[in-house]
Amino acid sequence: MAEKPWDGRFSESTDQTVEAFTSSIAIDKRLYRHDIDGSMAHCRMMAHTGIISEDDADQLVRGLAQIRDEIETDRFVFVDRLEDIHMHVESRLSEIVGPVARKLHTARSRNDQVALDARLYLREETRLIIRQLHGLRRVLVDAAGSQMGAVMPGYTHMQRAQPVLLSHHLLAYYEMFTRDSDRFRDALTRIDVMPLGCAALAGTTFPIDRDDTAAQLGFAGVSANSMDAVADRDFMLEFLSAASICMVHFSRLSEELVLWASSEFGFIEMPDAFSTGSSIMPQKKNPDVPELIRGKTGRVFGDLVALLTTMKGLPMAYNRDMQEDKGPIFSTVDTLTACIDVMAKMLPRVTFKTDVMRRATTTGFLNATDMADYLVGKGIPFREAHSVVGRAVAFALGQGKELDQLSLEEMRTFSDVIDADLFEALTVEQVIDRRTSKGGTATDNVRAAVRAAAEQLAAEALPL
Ligand code: ARG
Repeated sequence: MAEKPWDGRFSESTDQTVEAFTSSIAIDKRLYRHDIDGSMAHCRMMAHTGIISEDDADQLVRGLAQIRDEIETDRFVFVDRLEDIHMHVESRLSEIVGPVARKLHTARSRNDQVALDARLYLREETRLIIRQLHGLRRVLVDAAGSQMGAVMPGYTHMQRAQPVLLSHHLLAYYEMFTRDSDRFRDALTRIDVMPLGCAALAGTTFPIDRDDTAAQLGFAGVSANSMDAVADRDFMLEFLSAASICMVHFSRLSEELVLWASSEFGFIEMPDAFSTGSSIMPQKKNPDVPELIRGKTGRVFGDLVALLTTMKGLPMAYNRDMQEDKGPIFSTVDTLTACIDVMAKMLPRVTFKTDVMRRATTTGFLNATDMADYLVGKGIPFREAHSVVGRAVAFALGQGKELDQLSLEEMRTFSDVIDADLFEALTVEQVIDRRTSKGGTATDNVRAAVRAAAEQLAAEALPL
């Protein structure tokens, strides 16, 4: 195919600037394997339905296999003139198998072909991401299991609020990444739909068997409307949305690691192997990995917004604008998979300085709510109890003390229902372990949550 496939209609050859401008090969060559798999299935289907002979199909499939091999061993030449991966494969096929190659594009168009390639690609990557997230969730559950008993301040408004178990905090991220995994699984059900055979937009006159093609490629179903099939990029948008939400979680976790690694917090020691130094300040050890994860979140949000914006005004059916879809999905796949990988490797190497965390729970009146709860237990309505404790906190602040450092006599000046057992209720262990409400941070709850998460991970069927 030295000429363009559309040469019959044209009297001028394409301007070189236009060739360079419209070419997508630099980006979409990444789809070569999926393009070839799709073409092979298409050939077999055409042979099964008698559109081409078995012999033709054999020749085409052999030629396609050779092209795959040439690309994988870097013996394939890519040129702008051939625009995209689809035309490169077809053109090379002509050189290898001769005129029979001209039958490959029967009953299809590049519009349904590119939709198929993108779905095959994204199906594979989404499955991989679900498996990667499974590994990261396991890391979090393992850490939660091994840190059981470590206490730390929980924060609201970035102010110390109430003590929690470190394991409880880690399992919060387990929940987030589990929802992410569920979102990718859900997106997968709509990615896993086979568009080939919709041709340019209206379907085809040939007696194709789309279910045959779908079965060969392991698709769960075929698209119902030929116009929708070539115009639809929802499956990409859903993938990018799920990825963006997942990156929010990565970014929040990263932010916490950056904070915790600071001298101000000192809650963790980052592994040297996952940190970098400064070219000028010899003392520095910087948490660049979580910082970069936090930073790369912007790129993934950008990919989502880019594709949403590209799609928003497009009339039915295929429009060339849609060629801009591949950059964002490749960029997000690369970014997200790299973030999951590095986080899953780094987290097990983080040292939690549980003594510093525990010390941080002893100042800042983290047990004030528990004193109010104690008073409620003695029959005082909560709002009243709240103000009694508020006065006690103000008094303690004036003394430069914590609540548990006040004497029983001092305590009784705020309420005469207070007895010595109050001090028991104010210990960090009690403050944590009495929070037995479902989903609360009590040790028994968190132990059960670790067990439940481990069981969930073990029972989960992973996509291949
Ligand atoms: N390279 C194109 C894309 O990525 C393939 C489809 C081209 N179709 C067309 N009618 N020009 O969207």
